[in-house]
Amino acid sequence: MGTAAHIVAIPGGGAENVPNVELCTSLYRVFGGRVAPAGPRPGLTPRLQRVKISVFGCGYLGAVHAACMTRLGHDVLGVDVIEDQVAALSRGEAPFFEPGLPELLVEGLDTGRLAFTSDAGLAADATVHFICVGTPQKPGENAADLRYVRSAINTLLPMLKPGDVVVGKSTVPVGTAESLRELIHGAQPEAELIWNPEFLREGFAVHDTLHPDRLVYGLAPTDAGRRAAARLDEVYATALGQGTPKVEADLATAQLVKVAANSFLATKISFINAMAELCEATGADVTLLADAIGHDARIGRKFLNAGVGFGGGCLPKDIRAFMARAGELGVDQALSFLSEVDAINMRRRVRMVDLAREVCGGSIVGRQIAVLGAAFKPDSDDVRDSPALSVAAQMQLQGARVTVTDPQAIDNARKKWPELSFAPTAAEAVQGAEAVLLLTEWPEYVVLDPVELRQNVTAPRIIDGRNCLDPVAWRAAGWTYRALGRP
Ligand code: UDX
Repeated sequence: MGTAAHIVAIPGGGAENVPNVELCTSLYRVFGGRVAPAGPRPGLTPRLQRVKISVFGCGYLGAVHAACMTRLGHDVLGVDVIEDQVAALSRGEAPFFEPGLPELLVEGLDTGRLAFTSDAGLAADATVHFICVGTPQKPGENAADLRYVRSAINTLLPMLKPGDVVVGKSTVPVGTAESLRELIHGAQPEAELIWNPEFLREGFAVHDTLHPDRLVYGLAPTDAGRRAAARLDEVYATALGQGTPKVEADLATAQLVKVAANSFLATKISFINAMAELCEATGADVTLLADAIGHDARIGRKFLNAGVGFGGGCLPKDIRAFMARAGELGVDQALSFLSEVDAINMRRRVRMVDLAREVCGGSIVGRQIAVLGAAFKPDSDDVRDSPALSVAAQMQLQGARVTVTDPQAIDNARKKWPELSFAPTAAEAVQGAEAVLLLTEWPEYVVLDPVELRQNVTAPRIIDGRNCLDPVAWRAAGWTYRALGRP
């Protein structure tokens, strides 16, 4: 990591407008050494200070965060225990599919201000340390597994210096940050912890990190807390300069914000999927229903897409960990609705298998079925708790011969379910199919030509698990079209 240079405000500086040290140095001379104060000012970003940053955990969250912090002009060292991941990132290769990340890694590495290592001791040079490790669901339990958070903090403790700021970004059960803060103060009384949850969406992670819709700081109401917040303002100077709202809160609120947001999103999806069940029972159309209620600005149309439900590395495990924590706190009743949200979501997968059985005439045993999509959502190769893969695996377990395709997630899907067959393209996956299930709405699947695709299948039956196809066009091309929540 290079030495920290002092950088003054750049007029109109934005996330794309990377602070250029020479430009900044000349601005420093032009402005006679006057430094803009922190906080948004029209036409000026707040004071940009090149900060030495370490990022513990270089998975989906940490790798993107490290690359984006370099783009914002800081010196960044990413630390991870997985040697292969460190080696790939050091070559400028993203270990997972995330649009825009490889370019940002290469750009950062080229500046010499971004590096990755498995030698955590090198992070001693940094003054702001981000904790970005995973908090997966414990096997066989709803609770979150905090072993990686504890391990990262224990690694960090001996190297903390007075004035260092530890920034927690991992999603943790409320109360975790308070105990981590005690550990930090036990090791270095003059270091401070801030809880700063992330809200990035896979597939848009680079955009969401460079242009967050809000910044949340959870901090202790002390001078040390305020000083730590000022340090974090320096890190996020570009976003703050663009007027990104900042919410300063206590530690408990900041931890709750993340799980509350994810619970709300999960509830919204399960709400519309529950309406889909009603639509199926009444012959109504859930997509029209969503459009109609979505026009009410209080409701909004976003996250009202009915289908095979939510998955991924966040929503399912976060609502379960939230329920587990509420139980520990003695307020489990407050979140009992989330178990219904979870149940509605899981029912969609069962319903999808039933629908496949229905269109195949009552049995899927020995039937050739094509599944379009394995990732939990488009623009991702993530198959964690993927509804698409779960439905594919269920059908295979129930005796169908399932061929899965996905533009990015085949390797990950094969590792998880080697029993399934895989094909590189939709055209190959549907060869001889007696039913085709569209389960992840990749753009290339949404625009598939029903006339062309029909040539390859044995029986033209399509189940639209994401309500993203035009039923009129598919029926006109001779397909039996079925969907969840649509007549
Ligand atoms: C989510 C949150 O959006 C993000 O703020 C948080 O930081 C992490 O968790 P992500 O897991 O990347 O992000 O995916 P998201 O776009 O929220 O989608 C989650 C799941 O819900 C996907 O499986 C998606 O297909 C599904 N979904 C989404 C629906 O079924 N219907 C919708 O209307 C929207």
